[in-house]
Amino acid sequence: MELLLYALISDLHSNLEAVEAVFEDMAAFPVDAILCLGDVIGYGPNPREVLEAVRNVDVILMGNHEEGLLFYAEDFNPKARQALEWTKDQLNLPEYPRDENYGLWELLDGLPKSERRAGATLVHGSLRNETKDYVMPEDIGDADKMGEIWSALKDRVCFFGHTHIPGVWTEGGRFRRPAELKDEFVLGEEKVLVNVGSVGQPRDADPRASYVLVDGDRVIFRRVQYDYVSTMRKILKTGVLSDTLAARLKVGR
Ligand SMILES: [Fe+2]
Repeated sequence: MELLLYALISDLHSNLEAVEAVFEDMAAFPVDAILCLGDVIGYGPNPREVLEAVRNVDVILMGNHEEGLLFYAEDFNPKARQALEWTKDQLNLPEYPRDENYGLWELLDGLPKSERRAGATLVHGSLRNETKDYVMPEDIGDADKMGEIWSALKDRVCFFGHTHIPGVWTEGGRFRRPAELKDEFVLGEEKVLVNVGSVGQPRDADPRASYVLVDGDRVIFRRVQYDYVSTMRKILKTGVLSDTLAARLKVGR
């Protein structure tokens, strides 16, 4: 598939305000396709609405939260597991038509764990474990871990999410944050991993929603302001989702 300009989103985490702000930002560009790297749900207050918002994007990968919702969540921390239980209830609410609930589950069912598009590999976690492996900035110094990933990578770039920390890891052994790159990285011959950051729960000390545009060889990191106060209020209003899930949106941690 030849894509001239495409957008990569990840880790939306049921945050409707962030998703809407990102889609609005994206509308200013002639985007050919939107590719979603997983964790559409979990943590946030609007799982139904966020699933509907991504229903028609070109690719949705399975994240660990979708996997946890569908299969098992033993390895989740208590807050994340509690959010998944709450999410499950939201997708089964009896006041909605049964077909509508079924349609949400159908969207989650059978999501792929990886894809290759436009000369790029897409996963949620890493090529070592597509849904669960975390590639952190400091892992650039872990020769064994990185070696496994580089040898599994058949394209020049792998886009991923999961850690909620955007950046570029090069096969030459460098990690660079978007700020160091002035928000733009040009793909060349060298293999690289690119984390697109998180739309709905950034953890790099910047509360703005994160996503990436790819224009030919150019990888452009975008940050978008959104109304996180509304999202925080909705989280608290559930009476079930942990207060810390609200508090972290404000600080991007
Ligand atoms: Fe996530």
